[in-house]
Amino acid sequence: MAKRAIITGITGQDGSYLAEFLLAKGYEVHGIIRRASTFNTKRIDHIYQDPHSPNTRLYLHYGDLSSGDRLTDLIYDLQPEEVYHLGAQSHVKVSFEVPVYTGEVNGIGTTRLLEGIRRSGKDTRFYQASSSEMFGSAPAPQNEATPFRPRSPYAAAKLYSFWTAVNFREAYGLFTSNGILFNHESPRRGETFVTRKVTRAVAAIRAKKQTKLYLGNLAARRDWGYAPEYVEVMWRMLQQEKPNDYVVGTGEAHSVEEFVGEAFSYVGLDWKDYVGIDSRYLRPTEVDFLLADASKARQELNWKPQVTFRQLVRIMVDADLEAVGLPVVGEGKKILEARVSHWHHWDAAVSSALQASEGQAGDNVTTETK
Ligand code: NAP
Ligand code: GDD
Repeated sequence: MAKRAIITGITGQDGSYLAEFLLAKGYEVHGIIRRASTFNTKRIDHIYQDPHSPNTRLYLHYGDLSSGDRLTDLIYDLQPEEVYHLGAQSHVKVSFEVPVYTGEVNGIGTTRLLEGIRRSGKDTRFYQASSSEMFGSAPAPQNEATPFRPRSPYAAAKLYSFWTAVNFREAYGLFTSNGILFNHESPRRGETFVTRKVTRAVAAIRAKKQTKLYLGNLAARRDWGYAPEYVEVMWRMLQQEKPNDYVVGTGEAHSVEEFVGEAFSYVGLDWKDYVGIDSRYLRPTEVDFLLADASKARQELNWKPQVTFRQLVRIMVDADLEAVGLPVVGEGKKILEARVSHWHHWDAAVSSALQASEGQAGDNVTTETK
């Protein structure tokens, strides 16, 4: 029997990579998506399967983290072995503008899911997408023993979820694990996060469709990794004998300015000719320096990222050059071809993992997304 997993946030960067990863492992995957007036499934269109097909292993269900009934019903009906809770209002700056909504979705949304699992009575394993943002102003490097000092409504809400997951583990014996992930990026990164904003701008400037890029704080330092490597570690956490909490990051930090410099110079441009500062991108309280000490994940989960900062920049710039119809510089593409497996690719080609493996499909539960 194929294992069954629910992914919240399946249409996001991580959710889409995780869905590919789990399908390649033979799972039956159920994603929760929001109703929108336009399609919001761009990142998973290439793995979408017709629910009428006998070998379907990917199912999509409407639901929203701000409403509990539907989540409880889905957990009760599907009885999944694993739930990966990735859905969130994930933008830190936006959380200052919509703090109540962010708390509702990123905080209480988690309790809704955990209550559904508790009440279902099944020993479902639960992954909580916790964040390095929870460390806030705590001095770097940060590990599992570092005290949390959140600096945004986003971080405060994530902290609520972190402790709720821990509490359900201690109070009810649920298998809940927190992945405290540091920033991870890819060509599927949302367009308003700084890395993708920069790599898209580099491509647009090269294509002569843009002349200027406005950013906020260039001094902030982040531990940036490559997203597909991070979804694998989520899965590893749920395969352990016991639930636990893990810091996940590369152990190397760079400033926003360094990222910008690296991206522009990769295509032969000097960033100082194009970048301006706009105070609207500054945050009321900033997180200055995030740097992971991921030794616990390395030892217990045998996890070590392969893609370096420089390589990450090249992968993302190449992908965005291709997206605007320009020839790629090529180093980024070469890195993926040489070093990592097929499901890391950025384009929307039908996943060969899916074509290759024919898993067990369950009954079609619901899906009316197309
Ligand atoms: P993302 O690309 O912004 O994806 C967020 C997902 O959540 C999307 O599928 C989104 O749906 C969904 N969502 C948002 N609000 C929802 C709601 N009210 N009900 C149901 N679904 C909702 O984020 P990501 O980068 O993949 O990150 C995945 C998770 O890891 C998030 O919880 C994030 O906070 C956390 N995290 C990310 C990083 C990172 O560096 N990427 C690091 C640490 C932790 P739509 O597509 O419809 O918007
Ligand atoms: N978004 C954005 N836009 N950030 C900018 C800009 C800009 O124009 N200019 C400078 N920055 C700085 C931000 O102030 C921040 O210090 C840094 O770039 C990174 O910002 P983001 O890319 O928006 O990511 P984040 O670190 O705030 O949050 C991401 O990582 C967290 C993990 O640490 C998100 O993915 C969160 O969901 C995640 O939890």
